Amino acid sequence: MTSPNSQTEELDDKYLRTIFVQGREYQQHSIDKQISFEPVDSDEAERLELQHRVFSRAFDNRLVFPPIPDLRRVLDCGYGTGSWAIDVAEQNPNCEVIGVDIYPDMNPDDTPENLWLQVDDLNRAFTFPSNNFDLVHSRLLAAGINRARWASYIRDIKRVLKPGGWVQIVEIYFNVQSDNGSINEGHALRQWSSQLMRSMEGIKDLRVGTRLKTLLIAAGFTEIDIKMIPLPLSAWPDNPTSRGIGAMNGENITRLLASLSLYPLTQLLHMPQMQYQELISRAEREAGDKSLKAYFPLYVCIGRKPHH
Ligand SMILES: C[S@@+](CC[C@H](N)C(=O)[O-])C[C@H]1O[C@@H](n2cnc3c(N)ncnc32)[C@H](O)[C@@H]1O
Repeated sequence: MTSPNSQTEELDDKYLRTIFVQGREYQQHSIDKQISFEPVDSDEAERLELQHRVFSRAFDNRLVFPPIPDLRRVLDCGYGTGSWAIDVAEQNPNCEVIGVDIYPDMNPDDTPENLWLQVDDLNRAFTFPSNNFDLVHSRLLAAGINRARWASYIRDIKRVLKPGGWVQIVEIYFNVQSDNGSINEGHALRQWSSQLMRSMEGIKDLRVGTRLKTLLIAAGFTEIDIKMIPLPLSAWPDNPTSRGIGAMNGENITRLLASLSLYPLTQLLHMPQMQYQELISRAEREAGDKSLKAYFPLYVCIGRKPHH
């Protein structure tokens, strides 16, 4: 990884090579190296944009949660379509925003001048200088950061933060919950979650959202604050704001159920195609069933690097 001031290197072709699996497009490099099993096609880019709008609503349109009066340098880990990084760059013209992702081709061609996008694998040690950023943001990397890498990933984030700088991490825990306890192991949504977690068990930690506080404490962060926000799968909540979030999230969830699990379930777990299709159809129907009051726990965590 380089700084925006260093010379631009030509992009290695291997990062742009893609393969098709059952109609979805994946980055060959990510699949070969078991970095990420999520599609990189325009369908997924659209879904990530929609999900960003769902999050904006759930977070009251706030992009940055810690109190940082003068945002000068920000790192976005796994920028995806660049939705968060672009918004931060546009709202803070005096801030340099740097995004890192393993796949360089999901973001729009036109990006703000104060945004620099780079290609790298976050499973490797960061090469940014120490004491460099006011904020490091990491959102939905559970399926990309290796299970064994999390502790050193958080330590790397701390190293590159300026003293007094902040980390902001957002992760969905894909184990579906029900607000009235009506979801059990017989439901397709539960089977979807457990099969997804099982498919990546030795490689990734899809439960990392529940461990963020422990990880931040272990790395020496202070002023840690963690919240669990229930992300409704459909418009079931009584509260109008949450109902609105659920209504927006419906389409995201329908798309997410398929896009997140297609490769892991059919290629890693070798689930037959018919069985996979049937599971997804049942899970989609349940996600839209308001009586189940289904939600994904969304973990939002911030922590501060001590001044000394
Ligand atoms: C689920 S998307 C989230 C994108 C964005 N953070 C957001 O919230 O919209 C995960 C992104 O992280 C990237 N990614 C996953 N593992 C990675 C890794 N080890 N190194 C770099 N990028 C990674 C993927 O290519 C993808 O763009």
